[in-house]
Amino acid sequence: MNTGDYKAYISAETMMGPDSVRILEELLHQYPLQVLPEDQILDLGCGTGLTSLVIAKETGAAVIADDLWISAEENEKRFVRWGVGGRITPVCENADNLHFEERQFRALISIDSYHYFAGTKGYFQEKLLPFLKDGGEVLIGIPGLQDAFDGRAKELLSPWLSGEAHLFKSPRHWRELIGDSDRIDTVKTWEMDCFREAWEDWFASGHPYALEDRKYYESVILPYTCFVGIYIRLKNHSTPSNHQERTV
Ligand SMILES: C[S@@+](CC[C@H](N)C(=O)[O-])C[C@H]1O[C@@H](n2cnc3c(N)ncnc32)[C@H](O)[C@@H]1O
Repeated sequence: MNTGDYKAYISAETMMGPDSVRILEELLHQYPLQVLPEDQILDLGCGTGLTSLVIAKETGAAVIADDLWISAEENEKRFVRWGVGGRITPVCENADNLHFEERQFRALISIDSYHYFAGTKGYFQEKLLPFLKDGGEVLIGIPGLQDAFDGRAKELLSPWLSGEAHLFKSPRHWRELIGDSDRIDTVKTWEMDCFREAWEDWFASGHPYALEDRKYYESVILPYTCFVGIYIRLKNHSTPSNHQERTV
């Protein structure tokens, strides 16, 4: 995929932080999803649904777009306007208490939102794992603290984030929080490459929050933070022999 293909949709109206499409592009490039048109993908904490649009178009799968702060009605109107109303289902549920079917999703994607609700050990196993199919994949991109400053979020980030500084954790810390399970095959966490471009797109949007963030870019954001990439692959207990997947 190419972020440039989605330029028309990326604006101060749809952005809620650093360019989520760019973050998604890097994740999909690094870990191309293996999905079928009948598969369902959960976009968790989808905000205005920008990433849901990209996921639907790039994968061809059905997308369930969940967000807490933006209503399903508002996102539904946007999806219809964008011509993807039939392929994306908006819902408004708290990620702490989701109501989906067991093993419903082939993949879960969460951009710039996982840090708000998943920062406790056992969250992934208890609240999300039951909804994922065997062999399922998870792609997460969130702002965090560089590994070099692990454990110093409050001290270093408070001037910018005040009481929310503790939400920023290093890739190493996220690896510990995700933990293990007999259903998990692989977990990788790392500092992503798209940091500067994603922030520059946010600043160029002219969003009032972007202008506020801009004041802290050189002094706090650039020296201490990063985007944390998280990839999880579940064990594949059963693969039907005629299972033909589409690679994004
Ligand atoms: C910074 S916005 C990012 C939105 C979008 N993913 C993007 O990148 O543009 C963070 C999103 O996380 C969502 N969020 C925060 N806590 C949540 C929770 N407990 N359950 C579901 N969504 C949550 C908010 O509703 C918000 O839209």
